[in-house]
Amino acid sequence: MNEKKKFYITTPIYYPSAKLHIGNTYTTVAADALARFKRLCGYDVMLLTGTDEHGQKIQRKAEEKGVTPKEYVDEIVAGIKDLWKMMNISYDKFIRTTDDYHVKAVQKIVEKLYEQGDIYKDAYEGLYCTPCESFWTETQLVDGKCPDCGRPVEKTKEEAYFFKMSKYADKLIEYIENHPEFIQPESRKNEMLNNFLKPGLQDLCISRTSFNWGIPVTFDKKHVVYVWIDALSNYITALGYGSENDERYKKYWPCDVHLIGKDILRFHTIYWPIMLMALGLELPKQVFGHGWLLVDGGKMSKSKGNVVDPVVLVNEFGTDPVRYYLLHEIPFGADGLFNNEIFIKRINSDLANDLGNLVSRTVAMIEKYFQGIIPAPTDKEALDNELIELAIETPKNVEKHMDALKIPEALDDVWELVRRSNKYIDETTPWILAKEEDKKARLGTVLYNLVESLRIVSTLLSAFLPETSEKINDQLNVELTTWNSIAAFDGTRAGSKVKKGEAIFPRIDVDAKLELLNKIREDQLKASAKAAIQPIKEEITIEDFDKIDLRVVKVIECEAVKKSNKLLKLKVELGGEERQVISGISKYYKPEELVGKYVVLVANLKPAKLRGELSQGMILAAATDDDSKLFTVSIPGELPTGSQVR
Ligand code: ME8
Ligand code: MG
Repeated sequence: MNEKKKFYITTPIYYPSAKLHIGNTYTTVAADALARFKRLCGYDVMLLTGTDEHGQKIQRKAEEKGVTPKEYVDEIVAGIKDLWKMMNISYDKFIRTTDDYHVKAVQKIVEKLYEQGDIYKDAYEGLYCTPCESFWTETQLVDGKCPDCGRPVEKTKEEAYFFKMSKYADKLIEYIENHPEFIQPESRKNEMLNNFLKPGLQDLCISRTSFNWGIPVTFDKKHVVYVWIDALSNYITALGYGSENDERYKKYWPCDVHLIGKDILRFHTIYWPIMLMALGLELPKQVFGHGWLLVDGGKMSKSKGNVVDPVVLVNEFGTDPVRYYLLHEIPFGADGLFNNEIFIKRINSDLANDLGNLVSRTVAMIEKYFQGIIPAPTDKEALDNELIELAIETPKNVEKHMDALKIPEALDDVWELVRRSNKYIDETTPWILAKEEDKKARLGTVLYNLVESLRIVSTLLSAFLPETSEKINDQLNVELTTWNSIAAFDGTRAGSKVKKGEAIFPRIDVDAKLELLNKIREDQLKASAKAAIQPIKEEITIEDFDKIDLRVVKVIECEAVKKSNKLLKLKVELGGEERQVISGISKYYKPEELVGKYVVLVANLKPAKLRGELSQGMILAAATDDDSKLFTVSIPGELPTGSQVR
């Protein structure tokens, strides 16, 4: 007997630094649908997902919360696992980069690359975006900020190890050109070749010394492995590569599809293949970079407060409507939109009207006309052929689209059969057949055909909407749900009994639900704004406050403090006198922007020296916690200097 063919598919491993949103959910649901579909087709499937737990960002967040990094990630990872359960993700393995086997295997990989001369020590100097964990060159910045997330970058210099990427570049270019299916969609391939590979690859910084939440480099303990070698190798360490038990690795590698978002395509189609080449391993067969899930107004981001929370949607609508929307509404490979109204309308039209009605009408008619017993198809007519032919074609169409990763098109194929079946009811008018005694056999055949068509639909839907598929099987008492059984139109067993159940998708009142979703969103925003603010300090009396002498002053001169990239030296005028004040605001104001402004000074603060310069008081300013935004407190008009602020 032939051994089953294998299919290995991965999602990215997610950063457990915040709650996952509908964008991350999209990748994972898509991977799950592909995995379930391949299982249906008889493959031995390995679906891998997990979490990418190291790095400075996590370390900082844990410090802010006053817990260890491991405690911090443990809690978030538990939430991520709950979400995948909620979304019905059938992963075969969940890897955490803090897992012991992964840590050891990464250390071995780094040792091997070092021993064979692919890794060397040097100093790194660059502009670093902490949230994205990416280094950038001056020319890559957009308006001086990180080109990916738009946040400020930090100048960083430190000793680091580097991977000689350039050594393998030609070999990779050749590989990409000879394997047109490797980078998908095709358009992204040219971007990788022309923007990154052909202009010449820079060596990749692979270790850091400025933080320690990472995998230690065994031959130089003050270094931890930084981001990409740690993260990317999860795809092989999860299978046991580099451990005693590497059976799964031998069985499933090379990967059939790495499913990722387009922002990390460069890492997966350049760095990852080069790492594998250096290790002497086979390259993945395909890397598919999907587009962004956008919300009205652009990319989802926490700061815009437009993040869509999948948990809210599942609680309100159930898992399958969310899966359906993600799988159907986003053209695979391109950006797609998440919109509450379109989402709810789709549930009503596609799920409740088309599919839900087909199921409930079919079951209701079998109950009404045949006491719930599925009749045998004994009276066929030419009219049936169109439905039967489409039903037999549908699995093939779905397979073709799924193999091309065109998930929305595959769902369209299923819905074509659903709609054709509804049309078949209109064409055959069972309620008229039921009135004539000699049409009983014909009526039975029509209903048999509807059940059989739904059996094919529900078998296919097991890949996309597993709960719905089971509900349909339950109501119709479908037993045969194998791939082979849907190649022919005869798998329904006449004589078995249907079980009427609740509507599989109750119709939704669009306006009421929209209002509810908006309210939930507002409540969540309020709650997170509340959670984010610094706690209010201990109460003081009016006498305490009265000790602080706040005065209006006018800035008359301003310059940068030498050898400091933070401090400005201000000359201010206070009731005819001049004072010098040093203020850490040079990131936010150019000196000339402040001259002429009326600002508020803590006038009785004990003078102090900052960088050798005398500071006679402090300028008041309002800033975000992370100091990403700051404004001085200024007077929106002219007042005599020295006026009190009370
Ligand atoms: O990048 N729409 O993790 P991550 C669609 N740890 N996809 C989106 C999205 C959106 N709005 N926002 C994010 C990492 N994603 C690394 C991966 S893999 C070895 C290491 C996708 O949690 C994004 O494109 O920041 C990426 O594929 C995935 O979510 C994980 O993002
Ligand atoms: Mg990211």
